[in-house]
Amino acid sequence: MVESLKFSLALMACSLPDFPRIRPYYRFMVQFRAWVIGLGKNRRIIHPVWIERGFEFSKNLKMTLHANSKIKHHVSITGSRFELGKGCVIEPNVTIDATSSVTIGEGTCVGANCEIYSHTHLFGKKETSIFHAPEIDEPVVIGDGVLLYGHVVVVGGVEIGTGAIVGNGSIVTKKLDEYGIYFGVPARKVDQRI
Ligand SMILES: CC(C)(COP(=O)(O)OP(=O)(O)OC[C@H]1O[C@@H](n2cnc3c(N)ncnc32)[C@H](O)[C@@H]1OP(=O)(O)O)[C@@H](O)C(=O)NCCC(=O)NCCS
Repeated sequence: MVESLKFSLALMACSLPDFPRIRPYYRFMVQFRAWVIGLGKNRRIIHPVWIERGFEFSKNLKMTLHANSKIKHHVSITGSRFELGKGCVIEPNVTIDATSSVTIGEGTCVGANCEIYSHTHLFGKKETSIFHAPEIDEPVVIGDGVLLYGHVVVVGGVEIGTGAIVGNGSIVTKKLDEYGIYFGVPARKVDQRI
C-alpha cells in the first residue's frame, strides 16, 4: 500500500513539466524528481541525480542510479534490474528493456533514441505462435566511458567494453572490444582508439 503510494507519487513527479528556461525551477524539479523516485524500496539513488520530465519505469524495477548522472526527457526503463554508474548521461527518448538486467558503467553516454534490450524469444518450433514463444533472459553490460551515438540498438546478451564508440543507427549484436570504434548493421569494428 505504502509502496503503491510512493510509486504513484513518483509517476506524478515524472509528469510535471520542467520549464528548462526557468533555470532555478528546472534545477529544483530535476533533483526533486530524483528524490521522490528514490523513496521507493527498490530504488537506490545516490544524489545528486538529474531526471527530466516524462521518465517512465516499472514498479518492480530494482534501480540504482549513481551520483552526477543525468536522465534526459522521455526515457523509459522497464523490467527487473537497472544500474547506472556515476556521471552518465542518458539522452532523450531512450528505451531500456531491463527484463533480465542492464548495467551501465561510469561516465557513459547513451545517445538519443537508443534502444537496449535484455531479452529475446525462443522461436524453435514453427507451430509456436510468436506471442507464446518463451522469453530468454540476456543481460546487457555496458562498460565505463562508452559512447553510443543516436539511434543505436543493443540486443540482448551483449557486453560493450570500456571506452567503445558506436556510430549512429548501428545494431550491436556481439561483444565489443575495449576502445573499439564500431559502426553498421550489424555493428562491425571500423577502428580502434589509441
Ligand atoms: C534477428 C534475431 C532474432 C536473430 O537472432 P539469431 O537467429 O539468434 O541470430 P544470431 O544472433 O545467431 O546472429 C546471426 C547473424 O545475424 C546478425 N544479426 C543478428 N541480429 C541482427 C539484427 N537485429 N540486425 C542485424 N544483424 C543481426 C548477427 O550479427 C550474426 O551475424 P554474423 O553471422 O555475420 O556474425 C535477433 O538478433 C534479434 O534481433 N532479436 C531481437 C531482440 C529484441 O529486440 N528483444 C526484445 C524483444 S521485445
